[in-house]
Amino acid sequence: MTSSTKKIVLSAVQPTNSPHIGNYLGAIKNWVPLLDQYQCIFFAVDLHSITVKQDPAELRENTYQAIANYIACGIDPKKAILFIQSQVPEHLELAWILTCNSSMGELSRMTQYKDKSQKHGAHIPTGLFIYPVLMAADILLYGTQYVPVGEDQKQHLELARDLAERMNNAYGPLFTVPDPMIQKTGARVMSLQDPENKMSKSDPLAGATVFLNDSDKEIEKKFKRAVTDSGTEVSAENQSNGIKNLIQIQASFLNEDYDTVLNRYIGKQYGYLKIDTANVAINAIRPIREKTAEILKDRDYLDQILKAGREEAKRRAQILLNEVYKRVGFVRQ
Ligand code: TRP
Repeated sequence: MTSSTKKIVLSAVQPTNSPHIGNYLGAIKNWVPLLDQYQCIFFAVDLHSITVKQDPAELRENTYQAIANYIACGIDPKKAILFIQSQVPEHLELAWILTCNSSMGELSRMTQYKDKSQKHGAHIPTGLFIYPVLMAADILLYGTQYVPVGEDQKQHLELARDLAERMNNAYGPLFTVPDPMIQKTGARVMSLQDPENKMSKSDPLAGATVFLNDSDKEIEKKFKRAVTDSGTEVSAENQSNGIKNLIQIQASFLNEDYDTVLNRYIGKQYGYLKIDTANVAINAIRPIREKTAEILKDRDYLDQILKAGREEAKRRAQILLNEVYKRVGFVRQ
């Protein structure tokens, strides 16, 4: 297949904090095999990040880190288009057009907005409200077919689909209506301290989240202290959420089935499962952490990748945006 006929897969991360093993096992790791079949577009959404207050120096560093992380996790910059959202201002241009075609009502129904806005009292940043429209622009700007998304982003993707259809009806065919990409492989990683809940970057519980930049010692400590249940040995019949999570994490890192891992531990004390899973995680995370650090040291290399990525993204975005502007009735000369 030539690059022009490949379908587009697109995803993005907010450059806040280091990614954790849930982001890796549930998402990034599973994108590596997509690189040959699809034209993949991955970027760091710094414009989305400033919907809540950011420290400028940290934001800049985290943005580089997000891109370095993609590469360290196996996203080959020769195959994927990698860039920083704010370096392709076409995202903002399309976001404005889409904003004018969205309604206060539909944006008010976004559950993430409802959750996040609660933390701001009477001063809800307007950006938080518009956030899903910018995300829709991110997606629609490239004729994206598939968006690998987690459960929490499904409603936003639904909005992107609605906006695509609405624009196509109003102005004639312009946008590809994107589909969520649900991958069979890839785990839903739960908190190590509260295995009823998903692992999260912002979990306040100490040791709940294993980050990709954690040291070997930190990783070991977190797994050793992982919450299990009042039992002592792994049972064949049923496993508590804490035990299931450890088995699932180990299975995902090793590319094994859940049952294959389970069978190794039946009748054994929980401690063995914890220590082995810690070691498996340490061995998988160490090369990613070291590669990320190495890439981050070479800013010239990173800037070169970002320049190539931004140029290709712009080239594609401008073709579509120009057509949108014409259809909307703007004078183009
Ligand atoms: N909203 C997404 C998140 O918080 C990040 C994001 C922004 C995104 N634009 C996107 C994800 C486009 C997929 C496609 O995780």
